[in-house]
Amino acid sequence: MCGIVGYVGGRGATSLLIEGLKRLEYRGYDSAGIAMNNGNGLETRKAKGKISMLEAAVNGNPIHGTVGIAHTRWATHGAPNECNAHPHIDCTKTIAVVHNGIIENYSALRTVLKEKGHVFVSETDTEVLAHLIEENFETTLEDAVMDALNLVEGTFGIAVVSSRDKDKIVAARKGSPLLIGVGDGEYFVASDVAAILAQTREVVYLDDGEVAVITREGYQVSDLGARPVRKGVSRIEWDLDQIEKGGFDHFMMKEIFEQPNSITNAMRGRIVVEDGYSKLGGMNITRDELEKIDNIIITACGTSWHSGLIGELMIEENARIPVETEYASEFRYRNPIVTPNSLCVVISQSGETADTLAAMREAKRRGARTLGLVNVVGSTIAREDDGGVYLHAGPEIGVASTKAFTSQVIGLALLMLKFARRRDMSVARGREIAMAMEALPAQVQQILDRAKEMEMIAEKFKDAQNFLYLGRGYNFPVALEGALKLKEISYIHAEGYPAAEMKHGPIALIDENMPVVFIAPHDSVFDKVASNIQEVKARGGKVICVTSREEPALKGLIDYEFRIPETVDMLYPILTVVPLQLLAYYIATKRGLDVDQPRNLAKSVTVE
Ligand code: M6R
Repeated sequence: MCGIVGYVGGRGATSLLIEGLKRLEYRGYDSAGIAMNNGNGLETRKAKGKISMLEAAVNGNPIHGTVGIAHTRWATHGAPNECNAHPHIDCTKTIAVVHNGIIENYSALRTVLKEKGHVFVSETDTEVLAHLIEENFETTLEDAVMDALNLVEGTFGIAVVSSRDKDKIVAARKGSPLLIGVGDGEYFVASDVAAILAQTREVVYLDDGEVAVITREGYQVSDLGARPVRKGVSRIEWDLDQIEKGGFDHFMMKEIFEQPNSITNAMRGRIVVEDGYSKLGGMNITRDELEKIDNIIITACGTSWHSGLIGELMIEENARIPVETEYASEFRYRNPIVTPNSLCVVISQSGETADTLAAMREAKRRGARTLGLVNVVGSTIAREDDGGVYLHAGPEIGVASTKAFTSQVIGLALLMLKFARRRDMSVARGREIAMAMEALPAQVQQILDRAKEMEMIAEKFKDAQNFLYLGRGYNFPVALEGALKLKEISYIHAEGYPAAEMKHGPIALIDENMPVVFIAPHDSVFDKVASNIQEVKARGGKVICVTSREEPALKGLIDYEFRIPETVDMLYPILTVVPLQLLAYYIATKRGLDVDQPRNLAKSVTVE
C-alpha cells in the first residue's frame, strides 16, 4: 500500500527520498511523487507508474533541497495518474502533504472548503488535508496541521512540509504506521523501516493521535491537543542484506529459500525437547490466567488466516480447547461470542493489516485477552496486543507471503504445546512433536534442493487457465494457501477445497484441461485422499501430487509427483506448502510476470 518517506538534515534530500521510495516498492503502488523545500518555495515532481518514472522526471528537471517528503500511492480515491499522485498542494502552493490512509469525511470537508474558495485539482481524499491546513495556517505549521486533523475522520499517516514554515516536517498518525528515523544531525520520517534502514537503525514509533515536529535539531512529539508526549528510541535489528535480493531474481524466491533459517529462528530457544514443552517469553500471561482460558478465537486475513486454520486443528486435536478461526474482516462486523476466558490470537506478518488490527481491538473491547503472532517488530498489532510471539522470520518483502506462513505455523505449534502440555498431552507425545519440529529445517532444505523438479512440472502447466488444489485435514488449509499463491502472482484462477468436497460441485469442472494438485502426504487421511485422486483420474483430470512415500495404490493415477519427507500429521503443512510456493513462483515467472509486485496487490493492507 502507500508509502511515506521524508528527510530533514544537511544532505541533499532528493536521492535519499528516491532511494527510500525504492525500498518501499515492495508494498505495492501505482504512482509516486516528491516535494521539496528549495529555499525559495516548494517544488514537486510526480509520475504515474514505477519509481523509475519519477526518477526520470526528477533527472529531467532536478529539484534541490535538504527538506522534503515523498510518497508511493496505491489508488483508493481516483485513478492512478499523475494528478492524483501525492504530494498534494494547497491553493497558495506553499503546503505539501503526503498521506497514507483514508479521510472518511473528505466529501463533506471538500464541499465546505470549495464554498470558501479553495480550488481542488485531484479526485483524492488527501487533497482536502492540504486545503484544510492552508485554511488553518496562522502561526506554525504544526498548529495548522493539528487544527486540520482535529476536523478529520478516518485514518492517516501524514508528512507535511511548507515554505511558510520551512526547515521542518510535521508528521502525524492515526491508524496508519509512521516512525521517525534518528540520524546524526538529520532525521527521517517513514511509514516502514525498510525506507530508512540504509541510513539509520534508531527509530521512534509514533502512536495513534500523535504529532511530531521534526527539524535538523531534533524532534518533539505531542498529542493532537499539543500536550507533549515522551517517546523512547528503539533499535532495528534487521540487516540491510535482509531487505535486498542477495543473488536471487526475486524476493519471493529468496524468501522461499530462507525458510530453513526462518523456521529455525521461529523455534530458537523456545522448545524444550526433553519435556515436550515450549517457552514463549512474550505471552505476558500468568499460569493461572493460562489455565483459565477455555476458548480461543484466531483472527487474521489471507495467508495468515490459512495458518490460523492449521492452528485451530492443532490446538483442538492436542489441547482440546475449542478454537474458532475467523476472517478479521468478518469478525469485526458481527456479534461474536467473546468471554473473559477467551484468548484472541491475532496473526499478522506485517502487524499493520487494518482489518486484523480492528478485529483485535474489537476482541479487546469485548474483554478477551489478545496474543499477537506478528513478524514485524514494533508494528501496531505488536504494540497493542496484551502479549505476543514474534515470528523472527526477518523482513518479508515479496507480496506473496511465504516464509511468514511457515513461521506462523511454527508459532502456533509452540502455542499448542504450551496449552496441550498443561492439559492432557503426555510428555512422550510432546517430545515426539518437539523432535519433529526440530527436524523441519533440514527437511525443508531437502525439498528446496529439488526445486528444479517443480520447475519442470511448472513448465507443463504454465498455460493452464484454472487449477484445483485439494487436501484434507491439516492439508486442507494448505490447499487454500497453494491456490492463493498461484492466483495472486500468476493470475491463473485457482481454488482450494477439502478433497472430499470436490464431489459436491467442483467435480463438474474436471476434464483433461484441469490440473488438480493433491496434497496427499501419508497422514491419517491419506487413504481417503487416495480415493479422491481416483475420482479425478476417472474423469480425465491431470493429477499433480505432493506426497511422502511410494504408494502402489496410486500407480498410474498420478501424472506428476513431488516427494516430501515424512513428519507428524500436524507439521505436514510446513513441508507440503513449500512445493506449492515453488509451483506458483515458477508458473508466474514462466508467464513473464513480476512476482514481487503482482498487479493490484499491496504487501500490507492498511485500509479496510
Ligand atoms: O500482514 P498480514 O499477515 O496481516 O497480511 C494478511 C494478508 O494481506 C496477506 O497474507 C496476503 O494474503 C498475502 N498477499 C498472501 O500472500
